[in-house]
Amino acid sequence: MKEQQAGIWITGASSGIGRAAAIEFAKVGTKVFASARRAVELGRLNNELSKEKIKIEILPCNVASSSNVDQTVKKILAVSPINCLVNNAGISSFKRAEDNSISEINDIINTNLLGAIYTIKYVLPHMIEQGGGTIINILSVVAKKIFTNSTAYAASKAGLMAYTNSLREEVRKYNIKIVNVIPGATETAIWSSEVRKDNAGKMLNTADIANLIVWLYLQKGNLVTEEIMVRPITGDLK
Ligand SMILES: NC(=O)c1ccc[n+]([C@@H]2O[C@H](COP(=O)([O-])OP(=O)(O)OC[C@H]3O[C@@H](n4cnc5c(N)ncnc54)[C@H](OP(=O)(O)O)[C@@H]3O)[C@@H](O)[C@H]2O)c1
Repeated sequence: MKEQQAGIWITGASSGIGRAAAIEFAKVGTKVFASARRAVELGRLNNELSKEKIKIEILPCNVASSSNVDQTVKKILAVSPINCLVNNAGISSFKRAEDNSISEINDIINTNLLGAIYTIKYVLPHMIEQGGGTIINILSVVAKKIFTNSTAYAASKAGLMAYTNSLREEVRKYNIKIVNVIPGATETAIWSSEVRKDNAGKMLNTADIANLIVWLYLQKGNLVTEEIMVRPITGDLK
């Protein structure tokens, strides 16, 4: 483990990749702060882990609300440093551009792009003051490759990639590592049950992505994996 009881804040930890990452980070002995909007699901995760005598902190937070993010960061810092922020919270709609409502478009941009910018904005002064930290952003292959039915989602992920690539150059001098993880299709609730059923075995699983995220965090010394793309061996979904 990198440090005893390092503080890890994971957004979108109530399901899918974020939930699996919370479990994996807790298992390597870090102090996990798990956020999402659904407090009930976070409580379920907490119960599951407490059966294995693993303790995590549950902090409901809607990343699309800058004031909610500000309050959550204050609550975490009152009890622990934040050594690593995992910007994982995300939504999609898988519709053609003309079929997306304004509300769906706003939700995708506000969560996936602005939400991550807010968490970074409030965590950054603390990381600068403590002399370093790691920010891991869960992007998507849509930021690199063209897919249809993904316009707002692609804009949100490509936007966060551009934001964090610029940020990386600003914060090198503070020993802050910016890591962009670019996964292909992963079997989670972001996909419909039909897609998951039709593509069984052709999607990545959340535990493997979680292992990757923890491994990236644990990389030592002055080495930083700035960007990493992972796909199922069978390639992208058709
Ligand atoms: N699955 C894939 O194929 C795939 C591929 C590449 C990248 N990704 C990315 O991986 C990340 C995790 O997605 P997933 O696939 O694991 O899907 P998921 O199971 O649906 O998880 C999404 C998580 O984001 C949280 N969330 C959504 N809106 C939020 C908000 N406003 N504030 C706080 N939390 C919010 C959800 O919790 P609440 O609803 O409780 O808030 C949930 O915990 C996303 O950024 C997604 O874009 C997924």
